[in-house]
Amino acid sequence: MSNPHHPPAVGVLDQGPELTFPPGFLWGAATAAYQIEGAATEGGRTPSIWDTFSHTEGRVVAGHTGDVACDHYHRMPDDVRLMAEMGLKSYRFSVAWPRVQPNGSGPANQQGLDFYGRLVDELLGHGIEPWLTLYHWDLPQPLEDAGGWPARDTAARFADYAQLVADALGDRVKYWTTLNEPWCSAFLGYGSGAHAPGRSDGADAVRAGHHLMLGHGLAVQALRASRPQAQLGITVNLYPVTPATDAPADVDAARRIDGLANRFFLDPVLRGSYPADLTADLREVTDFGHVHDGDLAVISSPLDLVGINYYSRHVVAAPVEGAEPEPYWRAPSCWPGSEDVRFVTRGVPVTDMDWEIDAPGLVETLRRVHEEYTDLPLYVTENGSAFVDAVVDGRVDDVDRLAYFDAHLRAAHEAISAGVPLRGYFAWSLMDNFEWAWGYTKRFGMIWIDYDTQARIPKSSARWYAEVIRRNGLAAQ
Ligand code: FCB
Repeated sequence: MSNPHHPPAVGVLDQGPELTFPPGFLWGAATAAYQIEGAATEGGRTPSIWDTFSHTEGRVVAGHTGDVACDHYHRMPDDVRLMAEMGLKSYRFSVAWPRVQPNGSGPANQQGLDFYGRLVDELLGHGIEPWLTLYHWDLPQPLEDAGGWPARDTAARFADYAQLVADALGDRVKYWTTLNEPWCSAFLGYGSGAHAPGRSDGADAVRAGHHLMLGHGLAVQALRASRPQAQLGITVNLYPVTPATDAPADVDAARRIDGLANRFFLDPVLRGSYPADLTADLREVTDFGHVHDGDLAVISSPLDLVGINYYSRHVVAAPVEGAEPEPYWRAPSCWPGSEDVRFVTRGVPVTDMDWEIDAPGLVETLRRVHEEYTDLPLYVTENGSAFVDAVVDGRVDDVDRLAYFDAHLRAAHEAISAGVPLRGYFAWSLMDNFEWAWGYTKRFGMIWIDYDTQARIPKSSARWYAEVIRRNGLAAQ
């Protein structure tokens, strides 16, 4: 499949002058614990909401679970060797809360901490900077049973857990992300129910979003106090939201979805307030009684960096009568207070997730955060694409994925040229893995995983990315 909107990428590095990235640009790749580790019942690990969810019939495509995943728990040293062969400067991974603090409260599980200690040492031994995400969606099941993120106490539990990880790994880990994509945890987990724990209640989703941010703020305060050298941040998934036409009703639809998708998190974390138009839109859903005095000061505790995950753009329009609701992240229940907004498909090329490919949206997103919100260093903590891959003669020639990376790195470079302090880029993902509700049916990796044998095959994109890293840039076109 060639893609007319994206440059031919193979061999592109051999032509023309370079688009060079700033010295020290942090080239990385990302994964998450539940998506790759497997070993779900080993080493004292207890179930998370994703274990429960994936073992519930009908929740994940084909009944797939993360029980084995990429078996990274047992193959970690080999996987780090593959990272070193690619020349990665950094590796973003997440710690499984139920592995290091079974049941979500109480003392640490030394066996779980030891696994991450070995990972960190292995990375450092290969000159790879560890980048640790504390929460990539695997809430210990007992905390969900006690109310989950809609319950205020979960925020305090998260700060305790963060402290326990910082005590064990803070001497070696410099970069810390508290939460990965709180929008997904709140609105897919408690709004549409497409993700664990699979609940569907607009008010709960809004409360979950607030308590996730409160947990983030409390964790930042704890980490700051005990590890003053640490670089602390959060990772949010952001989308440019564009009205389908200039009609005022479409423009208003875009304002609403931008409020729920982006400003719900950016404003409290970086400005210390909820946007007034968002709280007005949500008036029918909640009275915001869950927001206590002082919460927003905690939530906006100073950070050292902001992580942005970028995949696509939302194009939206005013409701029309009788419109069919769309599945997944377009489901009305993801958008409390704006359920009847229509998501519009433009007919541009899409990935295997049906996400529209929109590299200019990355420039817009980075510029917006920098120009409207903060001077802090920014990092793209995830960017990538699922495509249908095939092994042919022992090789996986993933030209579409490679073109996606190429286009988005050009966009990242453009943002830097426009003055954005972008300091690093993490490709999603290092390897194929458990893609949440899609199980193993969607492949995002630069490394192919054979789920029968656990063989790893670096794809063309991995070799290409290694060359980008080696040259710290791409050829200009
Ligand atoms: C992001 C998640 C990541 C992965 C990619 C495709 O929303 O953070 O775990 O699933 O999407």
